[in-house]
Amino acid sequence: MSRWTKDVLRQVRPHFIIQSIKDPKRAFREIKFRYTFTSKSRFTSDILSLSRSPFEVLDESKQRNFSSSLKSQITRSSISSGRGPMGDEAELLYICVRLMKPAFVVETGVGAGFSTACILKALKRNNFGMLYSIDLFKDDETCGWIIPNQLKKRWRLIKGSSANHLNPLLSQLGLIDIFIHDSDHSYENMISEFRRVWPHLKKGGIFMAHDVGRNDALFDFLKEIQFPWWRVRTYKWLAGFQKPLRKKESIVYGKNFIR
Ligand SMILES: C[S@@+](CC[C@H](N)C(=O)[O-])C[C@H]1O[C@@H](n2cnc3c(N)ncnc32)[C@H](O)[C@@H]1O
Repeated sequence: MSRWTKDVLRQVRPHFIIQSIKDPKRAFREIKFRYTFTSKSRFTSDILSLSRSPFEVLDESKQRNFSSSLKSQITRSSISSGRGPMGDEAELLYICVRLMKPAFVVETGVGAGFSTACILKALKRNNFGMLYSIDLFKDDETCGWIIPNQLKKRWRLIKGSSANHLNPLLSQLGLIDIFIHDSDHSYENMISEFRRVWPHLKKGGIFMAHDVGRNDALFDFLKEIQFPWWRVRTYKWLAGFQKPLRKKESIVYGKNFIR
């Protein structure tokens, strides 16, 4: 029995049948998401078109200690910074940045700064590249408070909404290598961020969005850009895919692996 069939059959529970009758679009979305679920290692190797697992190449045990120490600081703190931070999906951001060695990374939604700190740690190890983050922001103490000062050299924080600041930032940068959405997860905001970013994402660049299961923004967007939804990879709440290259073009990540 194929993986697809098994996943579909796993969904066929009484509550799912009732939900499908009430809201068929949502039920279909859930099935599609189930189909794209994958492991951390497959997520990265598939979206970066690698022939082997990134974990064979990168020793990321130190990174894991770094993220668990940040996570416990956030858990212990009483500072509230928007919605919660990513889970271990942030490790995938770190790995993609380490492997791609991007010049420009753009993210929307900083919160306490967990995902931001993981990206910045990778840029620091690469000794190359900049991260531009946009967040609505209340004050310095709540936005990005978790980010160690020594990582901030490769960071520009833009205060305000993505609706106001994404276009000017993208026009200034031209082309970017990686985009990560984790700001307001309303349908309108998600799809409008996706539409703005797409023309500025390099071919072979990585598009990622968190909390994609909440609405159809990602699937509708994929239809617009004619990207097959089954080629997206999802790990927990993070979805990602690579912007297609032209035929016969390929990106060589190999030489970026070892430092
Ligand atoms: C879920 S948190 C981000 C968590 C962060 N990525 C992490 O893993 O630690 C969402 C953040 O998005 C910001 N936000 C909400 N709506 C926004 C918008 N329209 N434009 C920019 N930032 C927004 C909030 O201020 C909040 O800090």
